[in-house]
Amino acid sequence: MKKVELRYLSQEDIMSLGIGWDDIIERVEMAVSEQANGTIENPPKRGIHTRPSAFIHEMPVYLKGMDACGIKWVSGYPENYKFDLPQILGVQVMNCPETGVPLAVMDCRWITAVRTAAATAVTVKHCARKDSKKIAIIGAGVQGKMHLLAIKHVLPSLEECHVCDVKESVLNDYETKMTEQTNVKIKKFMDVSEAVKDVDIIITCTQKLPKPIIPEGALKPGMLGAGLEAGRAWPESIIHGVDKVITDDLNQTSSYASTGAFAGGLPEFYAQIGDIVNGKPGRENDDEVILAFNVGIAAEDISLGQFVYEKAVEKNLGIVLPLMEKDF
Ligand SMILES: NC(=O)c1ccc[n+]([C@@H]2O[C@H](COP(=O)([O-])OP(=O)(O)OC[C@H]3O[C@@H](n4cnc5c(N)ncnc54)[C@H](O)[C@@H]3O)[C@@H](O)[C@H]2O)c1
Repeated sequence: MKKVELRYLSQEDIMSLGIGWDDIIERVEMAVSEQANGTIENPPKRGIHTRPSAFIHEMPVYLKGMDACGIKWVSGYPENYKFDLPQILGVQVMNCPETGVPLAVMDCRWITAVRTAAATAVTVKHCARKDSKKIAIIGAGVQGKMHLLAIKHVLPSLEECHVCDVKESVLNDYETKMTEQTNVKIKKFMDVSEAVKDVDIIITCTQKLPKPIIPEGALKPGMLGAGLEAGRAWPESIIHGVDKVITDDLNQTSSYASTGAFAGGLPEFYAQIGDIVNGKPGRENDDEVILAFNVGIAAEDISLGQFVYEKAVEKNLGIVLPLMEKDF
């Protein structure tokens, strides 16, 4: 029997590769395109729930087109700030599609952070008005920051960001970091109703919410909204009143209805974002109101994970660990 080794890659190893938004967005587009073409095996997430509002999800996938496979094991603990830990963290395993051998175990926090923002950026590219200048970002944590960076990358016309959070210290940190990293003017808000006034795009990236936080009527003609909380941040009147509702995965998004999301019933989805990447029209005029619920699919993690793995092998990065050496 051949000796088997696997590569361990920490968050810092992965970040040291300096992978930029063009590559991240391309890997996400490849993943959602395959998803819409039906060339992936991507069962809905299953999970365990050790604390109220918390989850640990398993996310396996095989992408046939790129012949890449693996699984993400990711947790979401909204109370983690009390332990000085991020809400979202975990690992992913990349497997060899020929033999099943695990090739790498890697941090999934950075990959999750950027691929989620990239999925929204792809949505913005196709569904926001091209002249959009102002964005409201509700939830100024990891996703709030990554979303501004990814969206500015695809929408250079962006000038102003209304950022809103329930924590003042988080807002101040956001203002400092995003002012350093972009030329977007940051305006801070603690009241969601004020933050969403006079903007072109509204993004919610908060946590599993008990009730909607976006006020009725917040999406005016020509606007784009997007939520990372499987619809929980948005009132029924908006979800069922917009011209087009988009998702990254119909099955996955529909399955969230059984866990309390979309309490007013599932909307009629116009398209998956992969259908739009594959050519179905996104925004068709300047008045349409579009809302997107991208719940995150493993195909995005493993598509980007494969890119990370190949770059890491090229640079011999990380720690190579023995898994098994001889037969028994
Ligand atoms: N759909 C996906 O693919 C995907 C991927 C990653 C994370 N998420 C979700 O995105 C959300 C944010 O994740 P994160 O990693 O940025 O978490 P984070 O903890 O870094 O940031 C969340 C921020 O939201 C703020 N917040 C909470 N409730 C709020 C409210 N009512 N109004 C305003 N602000 C509020 C918190 O204070 C915090 O600063 C979570 O719900 C997470 O599960 C979704």
